[in-house]
Amino acid sequence: MKNFTSVTDVEDPIALIKKAALCKKSPFENDHLGKHKTLGLIFFNPSLRTRLSTQRAAYNLGMNVIVMNIDKDSWKLEFEDGQIMNSDKAEHVKEAVAVMSQYCDLLGVRTFPGLVNRDEDYSEFILNQFIKYSSVPIISLESATLHPLQSLADMLTIDELKIVKPKIVLTWAPHIRALPQAVSNSFVEWCKASQADITVTCPEGFELSPEFMEGVKLEHNQKEAFKGADIIYAKNWSSFNDYGKIGQNLDHWIVDQEKMNLTNQAKFMHCLPVRRNLVVSDEVLDSSIVIEEANNRTYAAQAVLQEFLTSMK
Ligand code: CP
Repeated sequence: MKNFTSVTDVEDPIALIKKAALCKKSPFENDHLGKHKTLGLIFFNPSLRTRLSTQRAAYNLGMNVIVMNIDKDSWKLEFEDGQIMNSDKAEHVKEAVAVMSQYCDLLGVRTFPGLVNRDEDYSEFILNQFIKYSSVPIISLESATLHPLQSLADMLTIDELKIVKPKIVLTWAPHIRALPQAVSNSFVEWCKASQADITVTCPEGFELSPEFMEGVKLEHNQKEAFKGADIIYAKNWSSFNDYGKIGQNLDHWIVDQEKMNLTNQAKFMHCLPVRRNLVVSDEVLDSSIVIEEANNRTYAAQAVLQEFLTSMK
């Protein structure tokens, strides 16, 4: 694996899910692998789970960790080539990333989309600049369009339920702000790679990009989609078609107990953070598996770090 930015970087996604399960069973078994190795975690955007779980994973493997909130703590970066750098941007990404990779053996980066220019976001411009200028592997801590560490943890969580061929429903849910499509794109991508039975339910106009919707069942009637589901995975995302728009009068898409009663006693999942009683009712969230899901972030990250460390030996 050269980098970890998508399920397509992973030779055998099922094997990686199993490796994450083994990391959970024996978290310190490979604590020698990271000796004298340093992980850099670079954040352009806020994080609780990704930041803490990836640090925890690195510590479990005996690694050192450096964390930087690059938007707050470092020089403002220029990303365009050939610029006369006479604005407030004091450093070019070319030097910044090359220097970071002198200090670190692996680099993680979180870079959200602007949700204004779809082509730019879907070209993964910033992530690809990191890949271009880094001399060490890059791990996505959520990029403009994908969140593979989250999805790997989600797949582990689903695997642990031991349901044979579960009916998985990814449901759009309301929000007050425009959110990226990354978690949902990634969830669908990993479900497809795992040959899972996945249905997407969303209001008309909120379908994910054709690349991700291909081969996925689509149901615009949320209640119809919930019937017989074993797993309800809720997430808000802004429109791909009318790029970055949030829609109006869609609060009835909340996941509540009445809708959950239509399912096959489904488990409720969400990547967190989640807004209570907007995305999901208290009742549903309080009986969900979101904490177990968040716990699995550590072992997903650990499996990925372990892959890289093993290949460095
Ligand atoms: N789910 C997730 O990535 O959480 P954070 O944004 O808190 O890292």
